[in-house]
Amino acid sequence: MPDAIGFDIYGTLVDPLEMNERLEPLAGDLSVSLAALWREKQLEYTFRRGLMRDYEDFDSCTRRALVFAADALGVKLSEQERDRLIEEYQSLSPFPDVIPGIEALKERGHPLVAFSNGVETTVRTLLVRAGVLPHLQDVISVDDLKTFKPDPEVYRYLARRLGAEPSRIWLVSSNPFDVIGAKAVGLKAAWVQRNPEARFDPWDVEPDLVAPDLQTLAEKI
Ligand code: 2OP
Repeated sequence: MPDAIGFDIYGTLVDPLEMNERLEPLAGDLSVSLAALWREKQLEYTFRRGLMRDYEDFDSCTRRALVFAADALGVKLSEQERDRLIEEYQSLSPFPDVIPGIEALKERGHPLVAFSNGVETTVRTLLVRAGVLPHLQDVISVDDLKTFKPDPEVYRYLARRLGAEPSRIWLVSSNPFDVIGAKAVGLKAAWVQRNPEARFDPWDVEPDLVAPDLQTLAEKI
């Protein structure tokens, strides 16, 4: 049986920074920096909540991060506008290489799952709208453990859910913290370096594979 593959979602299969298009009518030329600060604070909140063991789910971290980012940039958002933006966060489009790349991996017999900080129902809605869910066997959410990536427990949980040894699983992610977290537990890990300017952290750990997109990854894995 070929190795199982767990795909990170945000930043890997869909682009949270695409939200700048939906923010533009509300934030004008601040929309790009607002989308970037929103994503930065969303991840920061997951790290802090994991370390504090003060869990609120990814939907809550996403919402609170939007409140912070809009306030920090002086962008006024009504409750209704925030609700609509959070709803639209479930309508992010897949990168163009995602479905062909996943299909190429499926043809080679790899079991394929989504593996995300996202709440399972939220991720399922996102992946249905993106047309990706039918290409995956399952959605595995760290919400089941009430903690976040890169807590080692979440990668061990992925292995348990897949019924495979960590060394027989690939974590595929555009987020270096996720790649490093998976490697720390003995999974193999591929870094999807979508932005050629993106840097990998100085951590004495290297990805097992680096690819700019999932179609190239499918050729290399
Ligand atoms: C994930 O999808 C947050 O990108 C991270 O788990």
